[in-house]
Amino acid sequence: MGVHCTRMLYICLFGLFFKTIIGGALRKPIDVPFHRNYVPTWAAEHIKYLNSGNEVQLYLDKYSGTGFQSKGTYLFGHFSMQMKLVPGDSAGTVTAFYLSSTNSEHDEIDFEFLGNRTGQPYILQTNVFTGGKGDREQRIYLWFDPTRDYHSYSVLWNMYLIAFFVDDVPIRVFKNSKDLGVRYPFNQPMKIYNSLWNADDWATRGGLEKTDWSKAPFVASYRSFHIDGCEASVEAKYCATQGMRWWDQKEFQDLDGPQYRSLSWVRQKYTIYNYCTDRSRYSVVPPECHRDHDV
Ligand SMILES: *[C@@H]1O[C@H](CO)[C@@H](O)[C@H](O)[C@H]1NC(C)=O
Repeated sequence: MGVHCTRMLYICLFGLFFKTIIGGALRKPIDVPFHRNYVPTWAAEHIKYLNSGNEVQLYLDKYSGTGFQSKGTYLFGHFSMQMKLVPGDSAGTVTAFYLSSTNSEHDEIDFEFLGNRTGQPYILQTNVFTGGKGDREQRIYLWFDPTRDYHSYSVLWNMYLIAFFVDDVPIRVFKNSKDLGVRYPFNQPMKIYNSLWNADDWATRGGLEKTDWSKAPFVASYRSFHIDGCEASVEAKYCATQGMRWWDQKEFQDLDGPQYRSLSWVRQKYTIYNYCTDRSRYSVVPPECHRDHDV
């Protein structure tokens, strides 16, 4: 995503502008209040609003978790969330930030944070579902304690790629490999969901570590509810401004050199699991893994 302003100067400058915004948004909080883009999905009484709705906290206790979702439905764009995960003993809990279409053969782009015992590291699991098929898990440890401060987690989704970022560091890319026979999310609008729930049957050390309810309530904090996407009705098959938005432009169609170097740093130092290299599960490497440089 190096910026080369040769053709279509106007759009390109726009791209540059947004590139600056993205870069900035990852470091500084931009106060986008909760209510501008989101509504509670379930257990609304487990959501607490702070600073006039610029910050919210989700509460998990033994009666319920909770979640919220975007008001709009989107085909492509840039979606980010600043989160501070459940501190202390978070074993058994899962905090998720994901995009999903609402139909049966659904598309989905997932960040899932798997809690742990005090002092032991969270796992960040990512996944991509296309046409109802997932099974593309990748797991990493983070290079910081995600419970201490807010960090930004974001997804860039366009016709060319889906890129996952932690702060400004790309941690995963899933490119359009339609020509290799892999379905790519392009015609099913998605909503953005956030939730905190109990998953102690699988989340921590494969389900061995159970949620300690004496430590409840478990609290995760959110702010900067940024969404910049092509809004579409749930049934829409395309975005009305397809090709004309900043995320469609040349500099966002692939990662640039420094971003690939950051990505390989994450892969080398922090990867715990990658479906692309799991031969017991996939004797033939899934086609997109080659294109995504995962093998
Ligand atoms: C929890 O900590 C243990 C021990 O350090 C580690 O093996 C595991 O990957 C961590 N994360 C989860 C979610 O189990």
